[in-house]
Amino acid sequence: MRSAHKFARSPISQPGRDSACADRETWAIWRSILEAQSWRSTPHGPRPPESGALTEAMIGAFAVTMRALGLESRGRRNALEVRRVELELACPGLPAEFDGFRILHISDPHFDLCDGIAEAIGQAAADSPADICVLTGDYRAACHGPHHEAIAALGRLVPRISAPAGVWAVLGNHDSISMVQPMERLGIGLLINEAAYLYRGAARLRLVGLDDVHRFHTHLADDALAEHAPAESDGFGIALVHSPDMAVAASGLGYGLYLCGHTHGGQICLPGGRPIVTHCDSPRRLARGLWRVGGMQGYTSSGAGASGVPLRYFSRSEITLLTLRIPK
Ligand SMILES: [Fe+2]
Repeated sequence: MRSAHKFARSPISQPGRDSACADRETWAIWRSILEAQSWRSTPHGPRPPESGALTEAMIGAFAVTMRALGLESRGRRNALEVRRVELELACPGLPAEFDGFRILHISDPHFDLCDGIAEAIGQAAADSPADICVLTGDYRAACHGPHHEAIAALGRLVPRISAPAGVWAVLGNHDSISMVQPMERLGIGLLINEAAYLYRGAARLRLVGLDDVHRFHTHLADDALAEHAPAESDGFGIALVHSPDMAVAASGLGYGLYLCGHTHGGQICLPGGRPIVTHCDSPRRLARGLWRVGGMQGYTSSGAGASGVPLRYFSRSEITLLTLRIPK
């Protein structure tokens, strides 16, 4: 039988409601300003928008080409085949009480892009009980406009997840401020530059979630990462960020694990799985799968859904079941 868990947002006991609200209010002002701009705000400074019209034209031309070659249906089938990747990670600094702790990681479902993807992800998640589930952003297909389909799909997914320590989430660059309240009403613990602490006996594990930094980076994300960084004598820190772009900072602050997505592992790859585009400001070695920066391990999910076109080639859709272990 699993030991009981307690979880609460930062600070360790229940949060001072006023301070939590004040932080959210500051964030909401910044987020609203950035959502109204086309330029991206990133940890490396402002970046021009990813060329929407050009990208859409290229994606459209690609889809037409695949259809002409008779390969479109194969790409659609690939996108809907959501596999479970299982990994066991030896984690220095992990408290003994959390040996065997299981994390179900789901990223980039883009629920409203592919017919059938929500059901495929729901089935894979239902077959993957864990201690906790973390969602690392991009719940809808578009970057603007309605979100009701994505929220409805999340509403169907959450009850299928078996994770006694809760479902926790961060926002991605496709997610808007208007999705926060609907997600929280579903019982999802959104971490917007905030921390949650999971307890097993006297031991605790900290979960620090940042707002997306690929398009919506602010100093609030940097501050939260630093403020909630694990002290040497106090447990193990897991950073949840939509993209790998805070990995170097998180490693320098002593986090033990970094979970992210955003890249879709390339989604449309060359034979052998080499991505053509990753839409990522980080080095390519952080764009897919397991990696390490300094003493920190990280995992970039290839994504449960697809983005742009409902197709995948030489890149698999995934959910990930991570088991944390004390190093032997
Ligand atoms: Fe993204």
